[in-house]
Amino acid sequence: MARFAGKTVVVTGSGRNKGLGQGILQRFADEGGNCVVSDLTIGDEAEGVAAELRARGAKVATIACDVADAAQADALVAQTVATFGSIDVMVNNAGIGFMMKPLLEVEAADWSKVIAVNLSGAFFCTQAAARAMASAGKGGRIINIASQAAKTGFPHLAAYVSSKHGMVGLTRASAIELGSHGITVNAVCPNHVTTALGAEQNAYFSKLLGFASVEAYLANMAAKNPMGRPGLPSDTAAACAWLASDDAFYVTGEAINVAGGEEMH
Ligand SMILES: NC(=O)c1ccc[n+]([C@@H]2O[C@H](COP(=O)([O-])OP(=O)(O)OC[C@H]3O[C@@H](n4cnc5c(N)ncnc54)[C@H](O)[C@@H]3O)[C@@H](O)[C@H]2O)c1
Repeated sequence: MARFAGKTVVVTGSGRNKGLGQGILQRFADEGGNCVVSDLTIGDEAEGVAAELRARGAKVATIACDVADAAQADALVAQTVATFGSIDVMVNNAGIGFMMKPLLEVEAADWSKVIAVNLSGAFFCTQAAARAMASAGKGGRIINIASQAAKTGFPHLAAYVSSKHGMVGLTRASAIELGSHGITVNAVCPNHVTTALGAEQNAYFSKLLGFASVEAYLANMAAKNPMGRPGLPSDTAAACAWLASDDAFYVTGEAINVAGGEEMH
């Protein structure tokens, strides 16, 4: 099924092997979409992600972008349109989730960095993408990769949790203003996925919570999940593909849990 043939999908922070961004682009590539791999820098790892997508048959561009810089977000969208002729789906996936510290030890710089990337970055890319989509007049889809941390609190992750809750506010506010342009805006809220970021969290929280090993921590997580396992990039990717499809045209302003039932509101 080539639901996204002729459509162009940008995923920020997608240059890391086994990251959620890679998983999302793999799904769009498999369904015929043109893929933009974007990350802070485009090095060997990002080129590897791009090469794997090309091997799936996708047309792929790699574009460096620091999402915390509004001018770079604008340039990402402009270069995408110059390369493929349109931007149809923007997935705000870039994120920092590895700054774990007790609340009372969080420094102003830590806080600002996480908010700048996770929340301001999603805002800048939403604005840049929506301007291009609105001027093309064909609608579009914006998907914010939030988190279970957008729905509930976690210890030692104050800035992360705050930024992810903020992404849900951004999703709702953007959805209201962009609906008249045929643009939907939704958030996806995954539970734990063992990516590079997830592995750092596993190492930290398994110690903090007194587990004998990371494996024991993960086994406990699986046992507590109604579906019996943590998340996979492909779970999030499937939700993104649905939200970007014609079937989800009437769904906007939502923050959808993709968490095996671990989170239900
Ligand atoms: N892994 C999980 O358990 C989990 C769960 C819920 C939500 N998420 C969210 O999913 C998204 C992807 O996370 P992941 O687990 O794949 O982590 P990851 O660390 O593998 O990927 C994050 C990517 O963001 C990039 N990035 C960081 N700062 C950036 C910036 N300023 N500009 C552009 N790119 C930047 C990194 O280089 C990296 O490629 C994040 O927003 C994360 O918060 C992850």
